[in-house]
Amino acid sequence: MKVRTVLGSLALLGLVASGAAASEGDAAAKALFETKCSACHPASRALSKNKDRAGWEGTVKRMQGKRADHLSDAEVEVIVNYLNEIRGM
Ligand code: HEC
Repeated sequence: MKVRTVLGSLALLGLVASGAAASEGDAAAKALFETKCSACHPASRALSKNKDRAGWEGTVKRMQGKRADHLSDAEVEVIVNYLNEIRGM
């Protein structure tokens, strides 16, 4: 009985923690997108489109190649996930 209660609390804590992490992640991803993707054109250039994940991956990697060293691979990943979430198809 006691073990189940502890496990239940842990599961609940896990849910709360992952929920908080996800929304923080989104805010950070949004900020990264707005900073990195407004250097050459308004960031809204991307927001007028819907693409599937592979489509966004292709676009963001293409943008990464337009200027040396402005986007790390990890940042590409974060922005692809973000765009796929808000403008996926
Ligand atoms: C170094 C300059 C530069 C940066 C930084 C940049 N772009 Fe672009 N982007 C361009 C240029 C130039 C074009 C138009 C020519 C083309 O499509 O290749 C373009 C076009 C686009 C298009 C329209 C074409 C398509 O494939 O749908 C989208 C969407 C886009 N950019 C998204 C982004 C995103 C998302 C980011 C941030 C990861 C970003 N851009 C960062 C230069 C840049």
